[in-house]
Amino acid sequence: MIKKVILAAVCVFALAACNKPTESMQNVNKQDIVLENILTRVSVRQFTGEKISQEQIDLLLRAALAAPSAINRQPWAFIVVTDDELIAKLGEALPYSRCNNHPACAFIPCGDLSKAIEGDLGAFWINDVSAATENLLLAAHAMGLGAVWTGLHPDMNRAALVQQMLGLPEHIIPLCVVPVGVPAEQPAVKDKYKPENIHFNKW
Ligand SMILES: Cc1cc2nc3c(=O)[nH]c(=O)nc-3n(C[C@H](O)[C@H](O)[C@H](O)COP(=O)(O)O)c2cc1C
Repeated sequence: MIKKVILAAVCVFALAACNKPTESMQNVNKQDIVLENILTRVSVRQFTGEKISQEQIDLLLRAALAAPSAINRQPWAFIVVTDDELIAKLGEALPYSRCNNHPACAFIPCGDLSKAIEGDLGAFWINDVSAATENLLLAAHAMGLGAVWTGLHPDMNRAALVQQMLGLPEHIIPLCVVPVGVPAEQPAVKDKYKPENIHFNKW
């Protein structure tokens, strides 16, 4: 009788172990999902024109704002352009921004110089806003949306144009325009792993 009870307990335990993923299995799964998202992200420049929800916009902003920044200054501001007329104007003024290709909206990650590090390290804001922009691109991809980073700063003409169109104060410098939308194209993933770009320990 005791033997039967022990055998039954072992079977129940083994079954539970089979059905419930162990912690390390969950970690492998999470690792695969995150790496797959990073390795399959591509720039999407053609969109269907379909709108995305406010919840989706909030999620994208949440991802962008989670980026690292030098001494955690978070020297950024994000403008989300959802107005179709304004998106079209951006597309006309900045053809490389792809805003004329029917995105649902356009994000403009900006540096806020009033929050940047004082002195020589002030330019770290560019790194910080770039990190936030990459987070935005990866989140869009994970959500089945398309996006592309299109550059403004350090092209002063392009940045000034956007500053003027959106009424940005002088201390707010737009880094790039990121049109986001439902993809109307599926560009091939590029393999950028080039061993010649990697050095261990010494050049
Ligand atoms: C700083 C920067 C500026 C860029 N500017 C533009 C741009 O003005 N227009 C555009 O279509 N793509 C632009 N891109 C996107 C790149 O062309 C794209 O990332 C690159 O070709 C690699 O392709 P992938 O993003 O699909 O991996 C820019 C990317 C970066 C990082």
